[in-house]
Amino acid sequence: MSDKPEKFIDENGLRLDGRQVDEMRPMKMELGVISRADGSCYLEWGKNKVMAAVYGPRELHPRRMQKADSVLIRYRYNMAAFSVEDRIRPGPNRRSIEISKVSREAFEPVVLTHLYPGAVIDVFAEVLQADAGTRTAAINAASMALADAGIPMKGLVAACAVGKVDGQLVLDLNKAEDNFGDADFPMTFTQDGEVSLVQMDGNFTQEEFKQAVEMCKEGCQKILGMQQEALRNKFAGELSTDEVDVELIEEDVVEAESDDVDEGAAEPEEVDEDVEESQDDVEDHSMIKADEPEFEEDEPEDEPESEEDEPEEETA
Ligand code: CDP
Repeated sequence: MSDKPEKFIDENGLRLDGRQVDEMRPMKMELGVISRADGSCYLEWGKNKVMAAVYGPRELHPRRMQKADSVLIRYRYNMAAFSVEDRIRPGPNRRSIEISKVSREAFEPVVLTHLYPGAVIDVFAEVLQADAGTRTAAINAASMALADAGIPMKGLVAACAVGKVDGQLVLDLNKAEDNFGDADFPMTFTQDGEVSLVQMDGNFTQEEFKQAVEMCKEGCQKILGMQQEALRNKFAGELSTDEVDVELIEEDVVEAESDDVDEGAAEPEEVDEDVEESQDDVEDHSMIKADEPEFEEDEPEDEPESEEDEPEEETA
């Protein structure tokens, strides 16, 4: 790891990578990159490279894990062994288990879980190259992959982080700011402006906290605009490529926000008001126990099963 820089912000108010304090790193996303998945997204954010793939909704086996009134969402955040300077030991660890859990919860307010009782939606977020902000990059990619899979959602979810260096708040931390800064504050916002994830490492004053929330909100609104644009490009076939470059889009964000925001995300005709209530009953299956396989095998269950209980071919 490199040493702590003497200063994070120069006399011109620019950060080590030349950005303004409220400027995000360039983001690029591409949809439908994994043909076997129901939905997928490759996302680059600065030097972060993340792949998200969604499988489902599909029948959940073993059946005892099924929810009678809702779909089960499983989210696996994983860093590839080669994604960081020091090789990461493959397999789940405390950090990845925690990130998987909070990331899954970040999607709970938007996914219409009651539409697929007994089914499961698997979300895989694989970090191929890490450079600070991988959990937020993974959530942004997963949000797009869910939409690409046509999962009925109230809207998209966007994530970004605010930190503090040299006594100043900065949006979307780079590696040095993340490693040596005084705070790291990732948040997610839904299209409805609902907060679905807040984490915090470090300290803010009360005033800084309020400012940080506003900065995150603005950052997430920009990201939501880019996500909507990427989805429009794919599904409306406006461009010959699915690649969307943030710099090209950023000017259009404000306009995009005021546009019909529903265009990108698949929405059902009716929204059940009780969805969130029913989610309280969903057990936390995304918690991966280090000594257990992450997803249970489709083993035969104890009780005798009829033919129709046999696991079927996945419909991925
Ligand atoms: O990536 P994110 O900011 O969401 O999570 P973090 O735990 O704050 O990690 C910050 C950065 O440290 C990561 O993005 C990686 O670049 C790096 N890291 C690492 O090099 N090795 C690890 N085992 C974990 C993180």
